[in-house]
Amino acid sequence: PETKIFYLHLYKAKLSPDGFERVVWTVNGTYPGPTLVVTKGDRLIIHIINNLGEPTSMHFHGFFQRGTNWYDGVPGQTQCPIPNNTTFIYNFTIPDQSGTFWYHSHYLAQYVDGVLGAIIVKDPNDPYQNDYDEEIVVLLSDWYHNESSTLINYYLSPASEGKEPQPDNGLINGRNYYNCEWANAFHKCIDKAGLSKFNFVPGKRYRLRVINTSAFSNFIFSIDEHEMDLIEVEGMMTKRHKIHRLIINVAQRYSVIVTADNLVSNFWMRADLQSDCFYDSSTPIVHLNPYIKAIVHYEGANHLDPTTKGWADNPNHHYHCIDLNTSDLKPLFLENVPAKADQIIYLNASFENDAFNVNRGLINGSTYMVDIYNPTINQVLFENKHSFSLNQNVFGQFNTSQVIDIVLYNDDIGEHPFHLHGHTFWVLGSGIVCTEPDFSKLNIYDPIRRDTATIPTKGWIVIRFVAGNPGIWAFHCHIEWHVEAGLVAQFIELPNELRKLKPPADWEQLCIKSPNPYNELK
Ligand code: C2O
Repeated sequence: PETKIFYLHLYKAKLSPDGFERVVWTVNGTYPGPTLVVTKGDRLIIHIINNLGEPTSMHFHGFFQRGTNWYDGVPGQTQCPIPNNTTFIYNFTIPDQSGTFWYHSHYLAQYVDGVLGAIIVKDPNDPYQNDYDEEIVVLLSDWYHNESSTLINYYLSPASEGKEPQPDNGLINGRNYYNCEWANAFHKCIDKAGLSKFNFVPGKRYRLRVINTSAFSNFIFSIDEHEMDLIEVEGMMTKRHKIHRLIINVAQRYSVIVTADNLVSNFWMRADLQSDCFYDSSTPIVHLNPYIKAIVHYEGANHLDPTTKGWADNPNHHYHCIDLNTSDLKPLFLENVPAKADQIIYLNASFENDAFNVNRGLINGSTYMVDIYNPTINQVLFENKHSFSLNQNVFGQFNTSQVIDIVLYNDDIGEHPFHLHGHTFWVLGSGIVCTEPDFSKLNIYDPIRRDTATIPTKGWIVIRFVAGNPGIWAFHCHIEWHVEAGLVAQFIELPNELRKLKPPADWEQLCIKSPNPYNELK
């Protein structure tokens, strides 16, 4: 194991990922930010140099942060924000995880404006290491020409009637075309700004690490005339399984192996944005190109655009707004899944108008209200709190290590990709529209384990995890608009163990530096 030091400098810059110029919240001047490559067992020391002109935070999506809950990066839960013109250092190890991850700001909707990038954790004993020659990161995202604060102000007002901000475009590794006729005269816009290009050497085998960093959108990812072999879901190696299309929801990750065994030519890579997962035909989709493309270029081929066609088989071989069929995803190594839960927690996700006619997300009838400068962890560590206010949405406090099942119902007509911090969970079962879970039919034999899974429209999902990681862990829909609308819960695990751990002084300082009257009173 080594210590890997990274410097992530956050500042605003004008960029034109799809030709349309806007202010982007960049990491080291780019969007997406740099890919961090580390090896299982490494210590990561990540300097966040904040010159955004506003506070920030960084979350390392998918890591357990065992013993370092204060580095999970969630304002209002595990830290106070990093003030502007301040450097803060995250410092944690990754002892027992490998695979495909990402980092993103967890401060308001800042990641939608650009603060994100990929993290690759290599496994020296990767069971597939002889099955591929090269690795490629493929980062998919929806893209907005307005700043997230503008979009959220509108979304959380009666005028939106609860309709989420819709993306203007989608990007593959931060690039795509845009039709500049749709841009008004006040904006700089160049047509044909350029696409991402992936160079394939004939005969070589590529491990594509596909990450969906969207605010909102589910994608179907494919490469024309190339099959893909699934091998990883969010850090868990799976049995090699051939697919033509990869359905990937917000915050999810997969690895697939693609072999450059076709004619020496150019092929489209496609990320079809599934806008119909959220908008029924009564919602006009304006100015959204759902065909997001990049080019797979074989070495030796010409440099003309590909002329290939997408896979001809039916993309909706099952309902495409939910996760990949579990029949496509089997763990490579069988795990000992705990046979039963010590505790079952029933949660219900819904949307409802509040007293001001603003559509809010609710879990068990309560909408999450973040108190950014009074994080839950401080209440546990310094105030010895055991009970929390209603809108903190604490739906589980576990004083001993135990097996938890969450039965999550969806009362909403949208699908929701739920993410649990500090853990991976086994997906034991899920069901669509108005079914009820049959607990005798849950899969405890060979379920996959991941950190983000989708609850279908009016459906349910049952997940199982071991609550034994001291800390405050968020459980939320990863659609960023829904986070802002309050579709967030938190769990408190082993608070007494947490109190025995000593948080670093510079981390405590964040709350003192933050402009919060609460701190001045202390
Ligand atoms: Cu990507 Cu709360 O997380």
